[in-house]
Amino acid sequence: MTNYRGAPPPEDPPHRRSRLVIGNWKMNPAQLPEATALARAATGLGSAAVTVGVAPPAAWLIPVADSLRGSDVLLFGQDVHWEEKGAFTGQVSAPMLVGVANGTIVGHSEVRRDQGDDDARVARKAAAALRSGLRVVYCLGESLEERQRGETDAVIARQVREGLGAIEKDLLSALDGTWRLAVAYEPIWAIGSGVPASGAQVSEAIATLRAELGRVGVDGEAVSVLYGGSVSASSVAEFAGADGVDGALVGGASLKADEFAAIVRAFR
Ligand code: 13P
Repeated sequence: MTNYRGAPPPEDPPHRRSRLVIGNWKMNPAQLPEATALARAATGLGSAAVTVGVAPPAAWLIPVADSLRGSDVLLFGQDVHWEEKGAFTGQVSAPMLVGVANGTIVGHSEVRRDQGDDDARVARKAAAALRSGLRVVYCLGESLEERQRGETDAVIARQVREGLGAIEKDLLSALDGTWRLAVAYEPIWAIGSGVPASGAQVSEAIATLRAELGRVGVDGEAVSVLYGGSVSASSVAEFAGADGVDGALVGGASLKADEFAAIVRAFR
């Protein structure tokens, strides 16, 4: 393609991956005032270098959206259904999230476990969200047994191939320089265990993940990859400095405002 002067177009600037720290509150906090206070505490933490997000339970999304209005904190659902509407008791659709949240998490291991989601189903959820214009934080990672059997790379490859690989490529690419897809590497054995993976383990898994993204036609170097699994104020330095890590998906520690702030600061 040439521009109006017949010259080749300028090269795209090198892609700068967004640094993201997102609090996945899971089924917490139990009381709404705590949820809105936690959301307000996250405002002002972000900077030019790092974007901050929170993912409250579905019931708290609208009041939390209200308390975040005008702030730079991104709001995420924790899951989404692949259909737009219909007889799907207990589910929330992507079009329902539009206008309330900026995006959604999909593929979290707790959802895979409790709802029986496989890679194909997670891909359908992600595609539905992206098609609606939502950003997607796509979770994957191996179990302890899989790691002990030496299958970590194979599991990551399968999750990328059968999940992300099944999504139309034009949905996955950045839109106007704004990220649409981030991937969270969350080894199941590190979630909620208090024992995070080491920086070296995370870097190795993320290198595999980015190479596998390339095999399904996605530019892995352009996709932000977060680490999740027992990230705390005391462990975050291990990941903030690790090769290939662009941020964190934080569970338990995101429920404590001071601790979450310290984690965000580590990525600034
Ligand atoms: P924890 O930080 O509580 O281990 O949870 C991680 C997680 O599952 C984030 O999605």
